[in-house]
Order: sequence, then structure tokens, then C-alpha cells
Amino acid sequence: MTDLPDELSTDEIIRSLASGRPTTWLRSTGTEAVLPDLGDMMDSAAARFDRFAPWFAETFPEAATVPVEFASAFPGVSGGMIESALVPAPAAQHRLVDLFGSELGGRLWLKRDDSLPVSGSIKARGGFHEVLEFAEAVAAEHGLDSFDPATYSTREFREIAANHRIVVGSTGNLGLSIGILSARLGFAASVHMSADAREWKKTMLRDHGVDVIEHAGDFVEAVDAGRASAKAAENTHFVDDEDSVSLFAGYSVAALRLERQFAAAGVTIDEQNPLTVYLPCGIGGGPGGVTFGLKRVFGAAARCIFVEPSQAPAMFLGVRTGRHSGISVQDIGLSGATAADGLAVARPSRF
Ligand SMILES: Cc1ncc(COP(=O)(O)O)c(C=O)c1O
Repeated sequence: MTDLPDELSTDEIIRSLASGRPTTWLRSTGTEAVLPDLGDMMDSAAARFDRFAPWFAETFPEAATVPVEFASAFPGVSGGMIESALVPAPAAQHRLVDLFGSELGGRLWLKRDDSLPVSGSIKARGGFHEVLEFAEAVAAEHGLDSFDPATYSTREFREIAANHRIVVGSTGNLGLSIGILSARLGFAASVHMSADAREWKKTMLRDHGVDVIEHAGDFVEAVDAGRASAKAAENTHFVDDEDSVSLFAGYSVAALRLERQFAAAGVTIDEQNPLTVYLPCGIGGGPGGVTFGLKRVFGAAARCIFVEPSQAPAMFLGVRTGRHSGISVQDIGLSGATAADGLAVARPSRF
């Protein structure tokens, strides 16, 4: 084990984290107290997804209709929704009870973001939102009707888009979301991939005409390279996973959808019937955005737990020490390596 700096070695929780042991810390400060004021960001993002629904329905056959598993939660919506089912998981609940020997109160549900249309991960929420926001800005800048979904299928828009590039650094899933959507809108796209990115994701992106740049280093290196390449480039938008309000806004919309899905399932959520949500956390944007939304929708009745790999607890370390993006897991002797998809992140988001 690496020697911890003095000011950290007195913290028993950090010592446990540095040893690589599974460690739990429940904050005593309510999240409500530290939520940023982001105005109507979540509602604007939801409205943006609604505006683009006809375009998604037309462009991606798998998004043409709302799946029966959750259609009842969204009456009147005919298609083009980027959404996943919320399913009860009784077998997993029994297994957890057997494993841990303690009764789990309430009911266990799975939010199936692995089956989100087009790119199959939570990154579709934030990644798509930022690409759509950029597409609207480009359309408006060129005097096109950015609020009309039909604009994005016109030759005029596609010619303008071909002259713009979207760049992102990713461990895989964000790159897949940004790359596929950018390409389908007609943008040029570059995805900088870290060493842990899966081969099939690179192949899939290349098949969509996206430039994939492979890096031998970790996620931070891929993001830095992407940022540097976009810096002086004209007509180029860099999606900064380390610091993006637009990604965050896209993730937060999940909460508005979940509210409808729980209501359709007849599940009440209030202080007496709290909702505890376990969120896989990499850089923190995905779970952060979802938490922000859930707190807006359910207040203190929603309790969000970020779950990180024991070798890459970036957000845990940043928040616990108060150093946020100023500390990385390597600083306490951890490797940052994990098999958990998308979670090999050593330093949390600045945002
Ligand atoms: C499948 C999956 N879940 C969760 C996350 C975590 O999101 P974030 O890195 O924004 O914390 C990622 C990140 O890429 C992911 O790919």
C-alpha cells in the first residue's frame, strides 16, 4: 500500500478505500443542500428530446414505436423515445438476501438502460442530449428552423453539418452515443478512446463513418487528447465529459421518466416509502445528473448511492477529501483498473 499523505492517513474511511477494500460512506449532509441551481435545465432537456422524437422515430427503426413494456407510462407518445423499461427483479432480490443474510425491505427494480435504443447505455441520455443541443445551435446559426424536426433530414442541414465536427474522449459508451448520433445527423465525428475501450465499439463506430483515435493510456489521457485536438479547430464542438452541463441535463431527464413509470406501476414514493437508487459511477456525470433530477422530482424521498469499482473510486475520493477533481485514485495507491464497463475513471468530473 502507498503511504498516504498525512492529512489523509488520519481518515479511517480513506485508509479503507486506499487498501482496496469495499467501503461504504453515507454522507450526513443532505444532497439537497449542495444541489446547484441550474434553473429549468432538466425541463429544457426533456423538451429537446420531445422535439426530436419524430426524427428519432424516422431515423432509427428500433426507436420507431414505444415498447409495450413501458408504453402505458407514456400515453399519447407514438415513438422516438430514448427510454428503457423499469422491471421488478424478485430473483435478484432473493439472491442478494441470500448473499448478505439480511432482509431487503421494499421491492428491487432494475432500470434497463442497457437496452436504451441506438447505443445501449445510460450514455445515450447525456450524449444524445449534447449532440442535439449542438445540432439546434448549428441549425439556428444558419437561419434554419431549429425547432422543426424535419430540418434535420434536409439536404441543406446535412451539408452544413458535414462542415462541423464533434469530438469526444471516452472509455467507450459515451463515444458510441456521441459518435453514432453525430454521424446520423451528418456531422463529422472523432472519438478518442482509452485503452480499456472494447474493440467491438471501435469497429461499430468506424462502420458508422466515425474517426476513432486509439490511446494507450487511460480515460483522462483520451479526454485531454480530444480537448487538445478540438481547441484551435474551426466549427468543432468538444463534448467535455469532465465538465459538461449539457450531458448532465440529458441524464437528469431520466428522473421525469422514472416518475411516470413508477406512477404507471402503482408505486408510491414519499418520505414513508423512500426510493433508494444505486447508480454505477465513473466520472460522476451520469449518476450526478440522475441524482439531480430525482432530487428535483422526489426531494428527500429519493436517496442516491453512487457505486464505484474498489480500484477506481474517483467520486468517493474527491467528495470525501473535498479535493474533487484535484485528487486521483492513483494518489492513494489504487490502480484505476476495472472490468466494470465505463467505470475505469481515476479522477471525478470538475463539474
Ligand atoms: C454503462 C455505464 N454506466 C455508468 C457509467 C458512469 O457514468 P459517468 O462516467 O458519467 O459517471 C458509464 C460511463 O461511461 C457507463 O458506460
